[in-house]
Amino acid sequence: MLVQVKTHVTAPLALDPPVFLAPMAGITDLPFRQVVRRFGAGLVVSEMVASQEMVQAKPGVRERAEIGAHVEGTAVQVAGREARWMAEAARMVAANGARIVDINMGCPAKKVTNGLSGSALMRDPDHALRLIEAVVAAVDVPVTLKMRLGWDDDRRNAPEIARRAAEAGVRMITIHGRTRCQFYRGRADWVAIGAVVRAVDVPVIANGDIHDAADARAALAASGAAGVMVGRGARGRPWALAEIAAAGGWSPAPVPPRGRALAALVLEHLDAALSFYGRDLGQRVMRKHLGWYMDAAGTPPGVRRGVLTAPAEALERRIDAALAPGAAAA
Ligand SMILES: Cc1cc2nc3c(=O)[nH]c(=O)nc-3n(C[C@H](O)[C@H](O)[C@H](O)COP(=O)(O)O)c2cc1C
Repeated sequence: MLVQVKTHVTAPLALDPPVFLAPMAGITDLPFRQVVRRFGAGLVVSEMVASQEMVQAKPGVRERAEIGAHVEGTAVQVAGREARWMAEAARMVAANGARIVDINMGCPAKKVTNGLSGSALMRDPDHALRLIEAVVAAVDVPVTLKMRLGWDDDRRNAPEIARRAAEAGVRMITIHGRTRCQFYRGRADWVAIGAVVRAVDVPVIANGDIHDAADARAALAASGAAGVMVGRGARGRPWALAEIAAAGGWSPAPVPPRGRALAALVLEHLDAALSFYGRDLGQRVMRKHLGWYMDAAGTPPGVRRGVLTAPAEALERRIDAALAPGAAAA
């Protein structure tokens, strides 16, 4: 099974397997996407990139859209509320190698919605459509949309927006099965995603609370979606998507690294982050990932603390000792 995304100019883009990495600001940077891709994912999505800030080259923003050489199947997500900046940012990321441009209409953060971007766009579908049309007109690569079920329970308008977006040329739609006002509370409503599936004839991807193969099966059955997108479940477990794909029979099972192999993977991730961001910022960014890797590995609290508070020169040694205990002494 794969997800076929129509394009304006070339053959359809085959996203295989139909298990995608969700965009997560501060997490799905190039180094992490590379780690996830190594195990397997039909698509990985960048952190959201603020369109105006990107075009105006605000420090740190363009890095979020970095595709990286040899990294296939990357969507870059753009956010904003003005058509001209969205269109210009879309042109830039497509020129830079993005295979897909994704529009953010799901971010619930007040900082974003007060600027009338992200999920705030769901309150003004006419305006949202103008942005979508501008982005579709700006690029040849497929444009996709990620949104929630609606602003709140009284305004669950995702099916209506999806229908209009697909008519405007959007080629795939991901739905996080919560409203904006839910933020991350409660459970994602996979059944409600089904209303969007029935409203459009482009692929719809189910997202929200999908951490493992059982969740993925249940989400697909409840929604009828064409694929799943996994966010928080991939933190510290970059092989989670490949495990889900294997359970679906779409790809061979990955070997989740343990012990020495896990330590080696984490050290490579660290290395990539340090070269991508530079030493200081790289270490700060990696601390979050190290915490998640150790949570997933069940590292004892004292050892975990020792890694997270390690001085730069001791970090690699402590990671090794924490994740591959015994291996170093052997
Ligand atoms: C730390 C964090 C950052 C996120 N950043 C973005 C973002 O930049 N763009 C976006 O569309 N969604 C963003 N999301 C939402 C996720 O893409 C996803 O929709 C949500 O986490 C639900 O999926 P999950 O339960 O698999 O995590 C973010 C979520 C988290 C936890």
